[in-house]
Amino acid sequence: MRARFPTTPPQRTECDKNIHTSSTTTMTRVLRVDPKSISFVGDIVSCSDAASLAALQDAAKLIAANQVVAFPTETVYGLGGSALSDDAVHAIYTAKNRPADNPLIVHVLSIDQLKRRLLPPSYTLPEAYTSLCARFWPGPLTILLPVHPNLPLLSLVTAGQLTFAVRIPLHPVARALIALSDTPVAAPLANASTRPSPTLAAHVVADLGDRIPVVVDGGACAIGVESTVVDGLSSPPMLLRPGGVLPEEVVAAGGAAWKDMQIGKATAGADEKVRTPGMKYKHYLPTSPVVLFHGGTEADVVLWLKGRKYRNIAVLSSVHWKEISLPNVTISTLPLGTSSTEMSHNLFRALREADGVEAILVEGVADAGHGLAVMNRLRKAATELVTF
Ligand code: TXA
Ligand code: MG
Repeated sequence: MRARFPTTPPQRTECDKNIHTSSTTTMTRVLRVDPKSISFVGDIVSCSDAASLAALQDAAKLIAANQVVAFPTETVYGLGGSALSDDAVHAIYTAKNRPADNPLIVHVLSIDQLKRRLLPPSYTLPEAYTSLCARFWPGPLTILLPVHPNLPLLSLVTAGQLTFAVRIPLHPVARALIALSDTPVAAPLANASTRPSPTLAAHVVADLGDRIPVVVDGGACAIGVESTVVDGLSSPPMLLRPGGVLPEEVVAAGGAAWKDMQIGKATAGADEKVRTPGMKYKHYLPTSPVVLFHGGTEADVVLWLKGRKYRNIAVLSSVHWKEISLPNVTISTLPLGTSSTEMSHNLFRALREADGVEAILVEGVADAGHGLAVMNRLRKAATELVTF
């Protein structure tokens, strides 16, 4: 059986029909917004569609009132709240059931807004970031900045680190919400901690449906994996989390300071001090076990399966695997796409769609291009690694 699975992003929203959209306070309201109706002149937003504008204003009001709202970014859906409000940040941690030592990324509209709302007006970005930010902002790059003594940021946002993480998203819906609320927005993934990252509004509703007031549905996220987190304050500079911007792009755009960039460890033990606290937690887990294959043909997989008693499995194929079949085993094949860009776009959605079977077998790819971010996520999701 071959499951249908699009490898290109759908243009319009496609939320689960069963999603509750009433305005009761206990169930999440899903507000649809057409991202194409939003435009900017500098930091000023306008919206050509009345229903989208009303939805954006509704959600922005909640952010300004220190409540939390889920919204799309170009990477994944985020669960956002004011980075300046204790109540909002607590609500984020509670809704996600997130460990308190895992700091949040602050999302701003522009460097101007960052200075106006968070940093002293005279502030200048550390030089190591100048050309990187000029190249990748707005976009899927997160940088670490030093925590300034008078910074109004909460220690719950920084999780007590001496640095805080910031990014300027590209997605018009994320930008519109930050603009209309004029608030720096702390936003982790809008999933329940450990679950696969949400790339559709329906994923957010599935995880957080009765825990947050609103999801703004702006369709599928284009990139599909999270932003790249870099630390240009350390020497040598570090890439702490591979994501939407490739390591080679950071090195090429970053200038002399980045030519010795180190790539941080992907995993760490529970008590180990890591540069990116998020790395020590289990992540991206469907409820089914995930078996990650390094190498191996369809014939190798069939042989491996013969030693198991599975009756119903899913296969996430990438570059080489086609149809895998075995008598008496129901196998759903979901193609992730053959380029690493397609794979990152489809990965989390496929993990969720495949979920519920006895095992999800995944064809790994090379740690190159977007494959680095894809394999970083898959190694964390995997309950078993098989190498040929
Ligand atoms: O693409 C993204 O970045 C998404 C969207 C919603 O913008 N957000 C996201 O947030 O992935 P979250 O909270 O799931 O991941 C933040 C990552 C974690 O690995 C965290 O440990 C790291 O950034 N981080 C945040 N502040 C840090 C700091 N001061 N030092 C080191 N790592 C930090
Ligand atoms: Mg996370």
